[in-house]
Amino acid sequence: MSTLLDTPPPRSAHDRFGNARCLVCRACGAEQELGPCYACMECFGPLEVGYEFPRVTRADIEGGPKNIWRYRDLLPVRSDIATIPNTEPGYTRLIKADNLARELGLQTLWVKDDSGNPTHSFKDRVVAVALAAARELGFQVLACPSTGNLANAVAAAAARAGIRSVVFIPHDLERAKVLTTAVYGGTLISVNGNYDDVNRLASEIAGEEDDWAFVNVNVRPYYSEGSKTLGYEVAEQLGWRLPQQVVIPVASGSQLTKVDKGLTELGRLGLVDPLPYTIFGAQADGCSPVATAFREGLDVVRPVRPDTIAKSLAIGNPADGPHVLDVVRRTGGAVESVTDDEIRAGISLLARTEGVFAETAGGVTVATLKKLVDTGQLDPDKETVVFNTGDGLKTLDAIADRVGPTATIEPTYAAFRATGL
Ligand SMILES: Cc1ncc(COP(=O)(O)O)c(C=O)c1O
Ligand SMILES: [Zn+2]
Repeated sequence: MSTLLDTPPPRSAHDRFGNARCLVCRACGAEQELGPCYACMECFGPLEVGYEFPRVTRADIEGGPKNIWRYRDLLPVRSDIATIPNTEPGYTRLIKADNLARELGLQTLWVKDDSGNPTHSFKDRVVAVALAAARELGFQVLACPSTGNLANAVAAAAARAGIRSVVFIPHDLERAKVLTTAVYGGTLISVNGNYDDVNRLASEIAGEEDDWAFVNVNVRPYYSEGSKTLGYEVAEQLGWRLPQQVVIPVASGSQLTKVDKGLTELGRLGLVDPLPYTIFGAQADGCSPVATAFREGLDVVRPVRPDTIAKSLAIGNPADGPHVLDVVRRTGGAVESVTDDEIRAGISLLARTEGVFAETAGGVTVATLKKLVDTGQLDPDKETVVFNTGDGLKTLDAIADRVGPTATIEPTYAAFRATGL
């Protein structure tokens, strides 16, 4: 079995992280070297990747592979990244959702359907970048605490890289998410606790196991950059144009903040017109610490104990919660939340109108879009993109009581006629 260290050496030391130059503290702005760090040495604030971008053209990107590596110049990855085995996520479909738009009273609506990724959620994007960084940093094991989708993505990526994975999940996850992680053959630990307990345990283990890359803990600055590609793709698929409004689900808040970073970068690089856009966050009422802080006008996010069918979004103490508040306030958006019944209705609505079967996180996002329109918070005349970040086949229980055969009949024409259908 090969290991992470078997990766061929990069062309030059400088190229290991592409155009990334440093890690920058999001709290105090202090810079430090690119390395296996996630907290600022000055103030313990969270770190993110800083770059010196060269001139990047649309043609450079369009000439790249049909996956996230087409944006490699904008990610902390080496220039030959596309040649190294990974899960090659991205370039998922952006569909014009005219039926849903009509039903909600919107002019122009698109669904960014990230259920088309290798393990059927957007998490393949972040894990691919985390795996690339883990290789460069010399880690030997790929690990994570997960609410389900990340578990799938880490186990699959590690299998493809030929390395060990160790995944920690709360004990009460959906059966489909457990099986679709276990099938990849890594180590899967079910923990008697909720996600926030699992996350604490993972941080403790990360402190002990020097050669384990916990993708969303000790390599988080690299991992989170993967979400920028959702923003890049939407803009490219719109014909190199920024969307005017975007609705994004929020668990830890990493995705929403990095989509904002990606959209801003495109404007700065001259790849799109840097027109204003508005970002909205979506949560479940049963785990809505960021929506609550938004409504109450607070900058701090008070942790909650999650209780919702949207298990993938059930993070009671979201690491990037305050950054989500910054982004939505700066762009004129909002964070809203919806009930479990609204989530179920959101799944049905998207399926019935557009033929897209979302998991509960997608139900949250579509239901939140509806609520934002109904309450006048989202402008129905502006072009809007709503994210479906995961696949309904992983959360079948959410709709099991709502849908089924229209009728069950004997195999005769008469029986069919008798149904009146
Ligand atoms: C399907 C899905 N959508 C959205 C999210 C939210 O991601 P983030 O933690 O970056 O806010 C998750 C997180 O697990 C998820 O599984
Ligand atoms: Zn700092």
